[in-house]
Amino acid sequence: MHKVIFDTDPGVDDSMALVFQTRHPEIELIGVTSVFGNATIETTTRNAVYLVERFADPTVVVARGAGKPLRRATPEPIPHIHGHNGLGDIVLPTLADGGRARLDARPAHRFIIDEIRKHPHEINLIAVGPMTNLALALQEDPEIQQLVKQVIIMGGAFGMNGVLGNVSPCAEANISADPEAADQVFAAAWKVTAVGLDVTQKAIMDTAYLDRIRQHGGEVGQFVWDVSRLYEQFHIDSSGVHGIYVHDSSAVAYLVAPELYRIRRGAVRVVVEGLAVGQTIQKPESMGVPAPDWDNSSKQDVCVDVDVDGFLKLYFDTIVGTAA
Ligand code: BDR
Ligand code: CA
Repeated sequence: MHKVIFDTDPGVDDSMALVFQTRHPEIELIGVTSVFGNATIETTTRNAVYLVERFADPTVVVARGAGKPLRRATPEPIPHIHGHNGLGDIVLPTLADGGRARLDARPAHRFIIDEIRKHPHEINLIAVGPMTNLALALQEDPEIQQLVKQVIIMGGAFGMNGVLGNVSPCAEANISADPEAADQVFAAAWKVTAVGLDVTQKAIMDTAYLDRIRQHGGEVGQFVWDVSRLYEQFHIDSSGVHGIYVHDSSAVAYLVAPELYRIRRGAVRVVVEGLAVGQTIQKPESMGVPAPDWDNSSKQDVCVDVDVDGFLKLYFDTIVGTAA
């Protein structure tokens, strides 16, 4: 079993990644930590509580995380993509007791530290929002670098397949929202794999695929369909894609099926000022030229290609309950 802490800003594709984990037979979800991003921290935390109450085991708690980046102003929410409620404007119930029963008393970064220490070398930290909670955890307890099993992030764009960014010509949203935090996460001496736009934008779920999930996936399948309606309309309007990018589920897929991805190894730095702020730049380890800003940093893995059919089959089989 893969023990997972899921750090997330739900978010439509975040919610699809969460139900993917709750349905996967080899994933043991330890907890969910919220972060600002697709909506305010109040909204993403409420959504995380709603999702675990509806889909996860009763033991799964939510720890509320950062409401703003380390050093910058909080980016504006993006209701045209994720809806005013962060979940595609589907009707959400009022949570009994405001969801307090599921909320852990600790802030997200402390929850992350405590759980990594409780399960040394076992926790897979999957982060699919801005990297602020991870940076705060690193700052408070640097020893977690040696104690976590691995960190998988959805973030960045590395120029593969012509993919450069989604919030600027050189930056992806999760990195751009807190570039200083992301740079710290890449530099740390833990094992990071970046699942960036290069692969997430290849793995498109089209309308017919989503409809099959709705037909065969029971309550979860219906949820995936409902939550993705407004998000799909955004993709049609903005890029003519008749389907959706399922960014955050790709980070989960990497955990359970890394063989679906081709990796490039090398230090990654994040541009933190100037025109290209938020850009992720890897120095591949095959590159001999000296580059001290990279050479003194940790080598990490970046996904540069994906078996799209394999990914789509994995997600489908998991949601409909036929995954191996
Ligand atoms: C990332 O940004 C968010 O809007 C999505 O949830 C995903 O994590 C894609 O750039
Ligand atoms: Ca996200």
